[in-house]
Amino acid sequence: MERVTLVISGTSGVQYGLRLLERLLAQGCNVDLLIEPQAEPFINAETDHHIPAYFQAQEDWVKRRYGFAKGIVKLYAQDDWFCPATQGDTAAKKMVVCPASGGILAAFAHGIAHTPTERAGEVALKEKNTFIVVPRESPYSTIHLENMLALSKAGCSVVPASPSFQRCPHSADELVDNLVDKVIRQLNLS
Ligand SMILES: Cc1cc2nc3c(=O)[nH]c(=O)nc-3n(C[C@H](O)[C@H](O)[C@H](O)COP(=O)(O)O)c2cc1C
Repeated sequence: MERVTLVISGTSGVQYGLRLLERLLAQGCNVDLLIEPQAEPFINAETDHHIPAYFQAQEDWVKRRYGFAKGIVKLYAQDDWFCPATQGDTAAKKMVVCPASGGILAAFAHGIAHTPTERAGEVALKEKNTFIVVPRESPYSTIHLENMLALSKAGCSVVPASPSFQRCPHSADELVDNLVDKVIRQLNLS
């Protein structure tokens, strides 16, 4: 079974991360899930989902929504420094941050590891694991672009949340899926 660390960070575009989670689970992946504190208001504001604020309630929410999927998802708390993703020998070999805030890109690009998620990025880079970030910002500042360049040079794939129109999408869901397809290709999953 493929194992993937998925981080949903606190920026607009959380529907990309939630759809990616569904798609990974549908194809039988094991997902180590980290939801950043700032992601919760975006999930509640931008999607039809209502994620609770507290970890145990969030775990129940994840179990209710994804407990019957083909793959297995395990949610880790935002202060869980001993979650698998924070150590090289236990981290999944593939990690994706979708969507990725400008703030989290800056932390990854500069080796800042003040939270378990930032540490997970540091681990993905030092272990040279498959590492994908999906920034959602427009326009990009010079700082964003420099941080993305640094990450790209360090082996990370930068997949901006700019969905394509080549397949003539008829709905926002199709646009989301087009972007998620790109991420799944970068993860080398069918
Ligand atoms: C209303 C609002 C919208 C935002 N939209 C974005 C965005 O589209 N992209 C982005 O990178 N950051 C955006 N931010 C900033 C992030 O939410 C902020 O940097 C946050 O600290 C990220 O936290 P995290 O990296 O720990 O998840 C937005 C903030 C607010 C308040």
